[in-house]
Amino acid sequence: MSRVLKIEGLHVSVEGKPILRGVDLTLRQGEVHALMGPNGSGKSTLSYALMGHPRYEITAGTVTLDSQDLTELEPEERAKAGLFLAFQYPTVIPGVSLGNFLRHAVSNVRRPDRKEGEDLLPMRDFRKELRAQMDELGVDQEFARRYLNDGFSGGEKKRAEILQLAMLRPAFAILDETDSGLDIDAVRIVSEGVNRVAARHQTGVLVITHYERILTYIKPEFVHVLFGGRIVEHGGPELVKLLESQGYDWVREKHPEAAQDEDEMEAAVRPPQVAGKAS
Ligand SMILES: Nc1ncnc2c1ncn2[C@@H]1O[C@H](COP(=O)(O)OP(=O)(O)OP(=O)(O)O)[C@@H](O)[C@H]1O
Ligand SMILES: [Mg+2]
Repeated sequence: MSRVLKIEGLHVSVEGKPILRGVDLTLRQGEVHALMGPNGSGKSTLSYALMGHPRYEITAGTVTLDSQDLTELEPEERAKAGLFLAFQYPTVIPGVSLGNFLRHAVSNVRRPDRKEGEDLLPMRDFRKELRAQMDELGVDQEFARRYLNDGFSGGEKKRAEILQLAMLRPAFAILDETDSGLDIDAVRIVSEGVNRVAARHQTGVLVITHYERILTYIKPEFVHVLFGGRIVEHGGPELVKLLESQGYDWVREKHPEAAQDEDEMEAAVRPPQVAGKAS
């Protein structure tokens, strides 16, 4: 059965400051969507809110996976329900090896009723599967012994995220700037990894990006533009080309109300000019 992730009228605030102002988006399993939008428009806020980060408060709207309301669930329960987020800035966890982390995460997601301290996936099976996935991704086996993201290069962090994706096989994956900081070959390798997982498990994918390049490998059927905290444009791959060649000025002109909110958000990001400060 094809599963559906539905976001309706989503409003999200961070520390009392409204960021998302009514996002509507529907993803079906097997579909590939791209989300674009200028810096600070709320793309990462959307991904954090979907995963249930405590700082991102949903003030209105709903998020459902099939008929299940996700908004009341803890992040790990959302993962068990089939949601996965590859972070724009992955967290460093010194003392926990990537392999050990993955064994716990995979055990939790594949056995949703598992209690902490109960059986993990058998080591032999887990190792075998991990090795196969690492081979496919072109990652050295030694990599799994390193502490999670600790001293990982930009490219290694992104590969570690895709390795998690491959092992967790979620119904829906949100990839927040998985292409950032990757060299040209790495973008291809990581994209091929995503495509393999998506084809195998009918994963619905939401690729958040600023650039066309990754979308030449992970081909989106649907493209959305987030601006001023809501999605103002929906289209197909032609929208990517248009943004690549023309930027966001036309979006701003076409959606003056959203542009006003976008400006407000930008003003909040930029440090105020200190009067009289020598430059
Ligand atoms: N944890 C936070 N604390 C304070 N402000 C935040 C936090 N997270 C997001 N914001 C604010 O919300 C707005 C949207 O940020 P967000 O990271 O969602 O943008 P983005 O579209 O992902 O941008 P980029 O393309 O640069 O990654 C910004 O004004 C940002 O400063
Ligand atoms: Mg972001």
